[in-house]
Amino acid sequence: MFRILLVILFCLSWKITTSAHPARELLHCLSLRLGNSSSIAELVYTRHNSSFSSVLKSSAQNFRFTTPSTPTPLAIVTPLHASHIQATVYCCRKLGVQVRTRSGGHDYEGLSYTTTYKVPFLVIDLVNLRSVQVNVEKATTWVESGATIGELYYEILLKSRTLTFPAGVGHTVGLGGHLSGGGYGSLHRKYGLAADNVIDARLIDVKGRILDRKSMGEDLFWAIRGGGGASFGIVLAWKLKLVPVPANVTACRVTRTLEQNATKLVHRWQYIAHKLHKDIHMGIAISRVTSSEDEKMMVRADFSFVFLGSIHELVPLMEEKFPELGLVKADCFEMSWAESNLYLEHFPIGVPLETLIDRSSKSPISKMFFKAKSDFVKQPIPETGFEGLWGKFHEEEAKSAVMQLVAYGGKMDEIPETETPFPHRAGNLYIIMYLVNWEEEENINSEKFMGWIRRVYNYMTPFVSKSPREAYINYRDIEIGTNKINNDKGSYAQARIWGLKYFKNNFNRLVHVKTKVDPENFFRNEQSIPPLPCLLKKGANKRNHNNHGNLYDQI
Ligand SMILES: Cc1cc2nc3c(=O)[nH]c(=O)nc-3n(C[C@H](O)[C@H](O)[C@H](O)COP(=O)(O)OP(=O)(O)OC[C@H]3O[C@@H](n4cnc5c(N)ncnc54)[C@H](O)[C@@H]3O)c2cc1C
Ligand SMILES: *[C@@H]1O[C@H](CO)[C@@H](O)[C@H](O)[C@H]1NC(C)=O
Ligand SMILES: *[C@@H]1O[C@H](CO)[C@@H](O)[C@H](O)[C@H]1NC(C)=O
Ligand SMILES: *[C@@H]1O[C@H](CO)[C@@H](O)[C@H](O)[C@H]1NC(C)=O
Ligand SMILES: *[C@@H]1O[C@H](CO)[C@@H](O)[C@H](O)[C@H]1NC(C)=O
Repeated sequence: MFRILLVILFCLSWKITTSAHPARELLHCLSLRLGNSSSIAELVYTRHNSSFSSVLKSSAQNFRFTTPSTPTPLAIVTPLHASHIQATVYCCRKLGVQVRTRSGGHDYEGLSYTTTYKVPFLVIDLVNLRSVQVNVEKATTWVESGATIGELYYEILLKSRTLTFPAGVGHTVGLGGHLSGGGYGSLHRKYGLAADNVIDARLIDVKGRILDRKSMGEDLFWAIRGGGGASFGIVLAWKLKLVPVPANVTACRVTRTLEQNATKLVHRWQYIAHKLHKDIHMGIAISRVTSSEDEKMMVRADFSFVFLGSIHELVPLMEEKFPELGLVKADCFEMSWAESNLYLEHFPIGVPLETLIDRSSKSPISKMFFKAKSDFVKQPIPETGFEGLWGKFHEEEAKSAVMQLVAYGGKMDEIPETETPFPHRAGNLYIIMYLVNWEEEENINSEKFMGWIRRVYNYMTPFVSKSPREAYINYRDIEIGTNKINNDKGSYAQARIWGLKYFKNNFNRLVHVKTKVDPENFFRNEQSIPPLPCLLKKGANKRNHNNHGNLYDQI
């Protein structure tokens, strides 16, 4: 009994009391720690600063979280140097202010720049930490977390047309969040996820130490490559392994409406795309379009390809594997792999290469009011399943909704589920992302649109992965569950609910790592990995992370 009491007291002593004037004290602490008043004037934006709002909104991708009712931070710090982050972590910890780290600001639920918890928080915006150093001879790159995918592709392309990095499509996506959550694009069937190709990293931990792969150890290095940003520290930079691509690749798009047999083609695609040669990436975007002739509403499936080869190799290959689609040369273009990403983002052919480094150039799925969800599909969906969906696309709310299907298979099947925290490997035919979006003047009715996507998600239940219904952390969805603000026993049990969906059994190892590196749960958000509840830590630490499943199940 006495021992238990001691443990409880010890646990309680970890709780940090929040100060009464957090903003003032925070500034005071930062000005001492950042060295002198000139650096605080350059680096810190408080709410009184006239640029505060524009800086806060600058990279926020989801306008749902930039409205006047969205909670804002006490301050935004824009570090120029690692020491500025160390100082900020120190002050926030001391004063009980939560930290939100932002790289590219694409978090679907805005967790990098706002919070649903009613607590004082601060944003560390890595926008100024974005250098990209390419080493062509060694085929490696050191890239800072604040760089975007487009900046990375651009810098590599300037040095070599036959090397690149297998990350995502959206050129404004930040590497900090993307690599932390996995990251796939048009090369995952050949080379795996972005996170699978990270070979070193520099991270600032809760104590303000700068750790690399060697000093952080393999457990933590494992956790930051897919376990979601924000749980373990702040990743400053990543060392990436570059991969070979041909100087020109082929990118194609074929569009088919329901009248043009889209249902049959989408159905058939499920049997073909994941088994194709690894050099072929194939995805489908389903949306509603209005015919320009008679203003008739039509559901349309856009099939897109990126092939690591030439047009005259791809067309006969598809005639053999997927003749029903009817791919012809006129559907295809040759270009550098970097440019093929702009094509997949629906920029026109020949758009300047500098679009890749233009953070303000808008792709059709950036900078808007939206809600998205994800699913993984392991068995082909019957045609009748798709037919039931089309009706939903005819509903009013779906006017600019999209459902995106991207084939997995290939290298994704070869990487063991436990290799990184991202567990959605062998057995998945494809991933689905559902997205509904609306205009500013419709935001007053946002619940109507949210309702639409929930209905679609419910409708899809029988056709997608079950127990758990898996989800992709980079398509963050807080409707699958969130942590309570306090890390009590109840919130741990709650975290398991969303945690198993994103990570399956890797969740257990993530909790183990979290307990080791941030037992006080300083780095947290609505969906961060919780440390083991205090009373259970002693037993857990004795065990090997591979066989502690039972312990977690008891909680
Ligand atoms: C337009 C668009 C296109 C997309 N395209 C793709 C795609 O092709 N493939 C794909 O896989 N995904 C894609 N995504 C999803 C994207 O990968 C995730 O939203 C990703 O987490 C965004 O990273 P970010 O740095 O831009 O976001 P942020 O909002 O800055 O961060 C996301 C999360 O990571 C944390 N975080 C950020 N930086 C760090 C850091 N340095 N250290 C620790 N934690 C950090 C944040 O606190 C937050 O919790 C797309 C998203 C959008 C909006
Ligand atoms: C204040 O800090 C800035 C940036 O770190 C530095 O360049 C400058 O020399 C410092 N000034 C003084 C007076 O210490
Ligand atoms: C706002 O903050 C920035 C960065 O700290 C600083 O350069 C600028 O002078 C501030 N502006 C005002 C009006 O306070
Ligand atoms: C649709 O499929 C039918 C039979 O499978 C075929 O005859 C027809 O040509 C197809 N239509 C289009 C537009 O491809
Ligand atoms: C790539 O394709 C384009 C368009 O067909 C062509 O102009 C260019 O010469 C090709 N470049 C290489 C290196 O093959």
